[in-house]
Amino acid sequence: MARVFITGSSDGLGQMAAQLLIEQGHKVVLHARGEQRGQQALAAVPGAESVVIGDLASIAQTRNVAEQVNRLGGFDAVIHNAAVGYQEPRRIATEDGLPHVFAINTLAPYILTALIQKPKRLVYLSSGLHQSGDASLKDLVWESRPWRGQQAYSDSKLHDVLLAFAVARRWPAVLSNALEPGWVPTKMGGRGAPDDIDQGHRTQVWLAVSNHKDATVSGQYFFHMQPRKPNPATRDTQIQDALINACSRLSGVDLP
Ligand SMILES: NC(=O)c1ccc[n+]([C@@H]2O[C@H](COP(=O)([O-])OP(=O)(O)OC[C@H]3O[C@@H](n4cnc5c(N)ncnc54)[C@H](OP(=O)(O)O)[C@@H]3O)[C@@H](O)[C@H]2O)c1
Repeated sequence: MARVFITGSSDGLGQMAAQLLIEQGHKVVLHARGEQRGQQALAAVPGAESVVIGDLASIAQTRNVAEQVNRLGGFDAVIHNAAVGYQEPRRIATEDGLPHVFAINTLAPYILTALIQKPKRLVYLSSGLHQSGDASLKDLVWESRPWRGQQAYSDSKLHDVLLAFAVARRWPAVLSNALEPGWVPTKMGGRGAPDDIDQGHRTQVWLAVSNHKDATVSGQYFFHMQPRKPNPATRDTQIQDALINACSRLSGVDLP
């Protein structure tokens, strides 16, 4: 049985993944943005070991999340699931002066990857929208581009795949993969989302704990437990390294 940490497990696919892992007999540590959401998360996922608290929009709080996780001991898998969606109407600046979407969806998984003691497996939630992400990585922090919420989200989901593949290359002993869950009716997906919610959380669970040969790979991209072709730019090691370098510069945290 495995021990798994899931970011953003107070709702949606993260919460569903936590519930499924516990049903399967695994140990799960949850994560929520604040104390109240943390209590709600624990109530919604009976059997969870504990909850780690921190707002991933803040670099300081994200660093603190990593410290809390490390104090809990080793994990077999970390699922980088937390994210915000594509409907932010303007560039919302975080306390660090970064766009909210970039801070939560790109920089937080980078910081947590760098600072949490290496698990055996890393799973990154991307989206089909990553296909239209901007692979030039120009103006990552939206200082010179006019704000476009959907583009910012698509860019961040491209970054998540680049991060998964960069880590797969740098850390050969760790299985590091990315996936898209389909467009499903969570808080982010919205009520009208057309895909099957019951499939939305299964691939991240499978990549985190299954010993099937198809799940014990690294540097791959999945949809519904099947390999899917990611944006070809995600295979470009120069773009991967450029993203890692930018995240290192913006966060002050180096990827070991
Ligand atoms: N739903 C879809 O159709 C869809 C499609 C493609 C990809 N995805 C990806 O799937 C993943 C899960 O999405 P979802 O649909 O389950 O979204 P969701 O229902 O909105 O849940 C997102 C989770 O992340 C947490 N979170 C957001 N911002 C946070 C912050 N600043 N600090 C800490 N926690 C934060 C939320 O906490 P609160 O509950 O407190 O807000 C919640 O637990 C995301 O990575 C998303 O990009 C979803």
